[in-house]
Amino acid sequence: MSERTATVAIYPGSFDPITKGHEDLVRRALHFVDSVIVAVAHRRTQHKDGMFSIGERLALIRQSFADEKRVVATEFEGLLVDFARQQDARLIVRGLRAVTDFEYEFQMALMNRQLWSELETLFLAPDARYTFLSASLVREIASLGGDVSALVSPHVLAALRARFGSRHA
Ligand code: PNS
Repeated sequence: MSERTATVAIYPGSFDPITKGHEDLVRRALHFVDSVIVAVAHRRTQHKDGMFSIGERLALIRQSFADEKRVVATEFEGLLVDFARQQDARLIVRGLRAVTDFEYEFQMALMNRQLWSELETLFLAPDARYTFLSASLVREIASLGGDVSALVSPHVLAALRARFGSRHA
């Protein structure tokens, strides 16, 4: 009997912080892959400043998937294709929220495939409730005292409140 090789997908991103949209995407991916590596891109790799440290983001992601052994969270530095090769993972998952995401995502997918021809990118549509959601908007709204409780899980909300004070987020 031939053994089926486990399908591992990498879900890369900033996750600053993880939102309900990200969580939804991971759970959707788990319907057809054996495990998902949620890979937080290191700041030096991304050339942009973040709000939460990489360690804090990883801790929040791990709390989101504390009930799910098939999800691991890790950071990576450098090219995504190099990280994927190290992990022996040939599948990237990314969310496509709207047409505005398409150009950037399509360019990244084709560039990654140019760098490693065996790497495929699979785009998933999030739940319609989260199509307008982005971590950058969550950060901005929380920092200005808006209510983001419908957009992030309770532990992420608590982290935002700790950052901005209880009158905020
Ligand atoms: O959540 P984001 O910020 O849209 O994620 C972007 C991310 C981390 C997926 C992208 O910047 C990335 O893959 N960075 C790693 C460096 C790399 O491989 N760059 C070339 C991409 S074609």
